[in-house]
Amino acid sequence: MKYPLILLFAIALSCFNCASEKEPVEIKTFVEEPHSFAIPNKAYINHLDLDIEVDFDSQTIKGSATYDITNNNASEIVLDSKFLDIKSVKADGKETSFRLGDFDEFLGQALYIDIKNDTKTIKVFYETTEQTEALQWLDPQQTADKTHPFLFTQGQAILTRTWIPIQDSPQIRITYNATVKVPTELMAVMSAENPKEKNPVGFYHFQMKQPISPYLIALSVGNLEYRAISNRTGVYAETSMIDKVQNEFSEMDNMLKAAEALYGTYAWEQFDVIVLPPSFPFGGMENPRLTFATPTLIAGDKSLTSVIAHELAHSWSGNLVTNSTWNDFWLNEGFTVYFEIRIMEALYGKERADMLALIGRQDLEDEIEDLKDTPESTQLKLNLKNENPDDGMNSIAYDKGYLFLRTLEETAGRDKFDVFLKSYFTTNAFTTLTTEDFVNYLNTQLLEPNNIKFNTEEWIYKPGIPSNAVVITSDKFDIAERFLEQFLKLNEVDTALTNHWTTQEWVHFIRNFPETITPEQMALLDNAFDFTNSGNSHIAMVWFEQSIIHDYIGNDVDKNIASFLTQVGRRWYVETLFKAYKKADKVEEALSIYKETRGNYHSVTAGTIDLLLNYTSEDSTSKVE
Ligand code: BES
Ligand code: ZN
Repeated sequence: MKYPLILLFAIALSCFNCASEKEPVEIKTFVEEPHSFAIPNKAYINHLDLDIEVDFDSQTIKGSATYDITNNNASEIVLDSKFLDIKSVKADGKETSFRLGDFDEFLGQALYIDIKNDTKTIKVFYETTEQTEALQWLDPQQTADKTHPFLFTQGQAILTRTWIPIQDSPQIRITYNATVKVPTELMAVMSAENPKEKNPVGFYHFQMKQPISPYLIALSVGNLEYRAISNRTGVYAETSMIDKVQNEFSEMDNMLKAAEALYGTYAWEQFDVIVLPPSFPFGGMENPRLTFATPTLIAGDKSLTSVIAHELAHSWSGNLVTNSTWNDFWLNEGFTVYFEIRIMEALYGKERADMLALIGRQDLEDEIEDLKDTPESTQLKLNLKNENPDDGMNSIAYDKGYLFLRTLEETAGRDKFDVFLKSYFTTNAFTTLTTEDFVNYLNTQLLEPNNIKFNTEEWIYKPGIPSNAVVITSDKFDIAERFLEQFLKLNEVDTALTNHWTTQEWVHFIRNFPETITPEQMALLDNAFDFTNSGNSHIAMVWFEQSIIHDYIGNDVDKNIASFLTQVGRRWYVETLFKAYKKADKVEEALSIYKETRGNYHSVTAGTIDLLLNYTSEDSTSKVE
């Protein structure tokens, strides 16, 4: 289990009369952490009071972070910081000395603060800088309404330290309060209890009562509106988007009910989603109480809402039961994909769920092929020491993690597996687990009591896909494949046969074009189905991918690709398209597009594409905002 050694220090040891009045002080122990400078076994933070002002003119956040700490008799507390301007530090209200350690390109700098062995609070005055990676400051032009600027943060994996000095390890859990001052015409929202209306003087107060890991602290500031979907779900978006968003995500409350029916009560009271401008680098980010989402989910027909189910599922797997280190990332994402697909099954049936699972299965095979030179990176348990965790967190955690859990489900039987998972979430709520903690829990709670032999070690510590992986099938996908074969043979399309196809069938159909498909054949398909102008971002993305690979340039598809890459910063999409250029030996073309679009991307997307295209800052004249 996470805290094998919980030391209980009865205050009574030093106080004769008050033993019965005071709670014992509990000192947690922490495992070794490759991506944080903090030494929490000496002193760790429990609660944050953030007091900041968001200044759009200078594009900085400035203010203070005050922490309540648990002090294990330490003379120093160590925080993480990166690209922050630390002004001064106080310990229990008195100025104290501090120093910054050597700079590491991924981890930033340790912030060493001198304390006394009985220090209870520290306060850091600081300001963000131009290089701060978590923040993306957007001009009105980059927003939906085009009238106001916008700011959002992205903390996962190790970027919270770039906007708040903090012990930035997922093992740390803190509650927080925040006071945020923003321009009066804008609204601020956080991963906390949120306002539903603008404050006339631009002052916002937030409270997160449940302890969360620092990567889940999030802030967004823009010209926002709120719409309730039910008494505990709702959406935030800019005015021009709010109706569409409300309509697209109208099933949120049903998703929440389905999730609770599976694995227990929702722990965070409210579940809202904010739809951000299109440069947001993820499909969704599970910030507690307020999922951050890309507008590319707004397809008009609710066909891409499995991402919302995914982020909701993180309310259990990730936010409630958290990976201890980024090497255990699959515990967050593998469980979440499994849970996401179970929610989708509960709402829309097994057929849709299995289509989603099969799309993931194909992603897994593609990823294993891409990683064939570094097979160890296809293990579930990773070793990301000395690496940027963000570069090592690939889709193995998601899709192999899913397949592992689904194989376990089918081996143990769904009833037993569901009882196991529910108790896993309840027993480990508000703690962090390593992979080894999980294996121990699995053995003692599921496998041994039911006498099940299972190759857990192979799944977790070996590369590739074990041979006992369940085989998932879909009649609808088989039909789509036959339709493709027929077309390739006859060069004719019978559009009547595809009338009722879902997004998932289209995606499967397009992704399975053979190497031999010709640009002429793609033109026939495009003329029949108008993929080049698809309003569905997933369909458009896979069509653009195939267009790049197969040299299709009809219907001005290249213009649409360039404008897609200019507007959309969702990393998975952008990366897929730039990978396609690389695969098709069109790196020059990719670089000439990237030079134009890079300035629109958040640092996490730019970081990934820099690596993919070997793009160095000497090539760059534009800074990543
Ligand atoms: N927590 C992740 C996003 C993330 C991963 C941020 C790694 C930073 C580092 C989020 O829950 C996620 O997985 N988003 C996916 C959606 C999903 C349905 C697979 C995405 O953005 O595409
Ligand atoms: Zn996720």
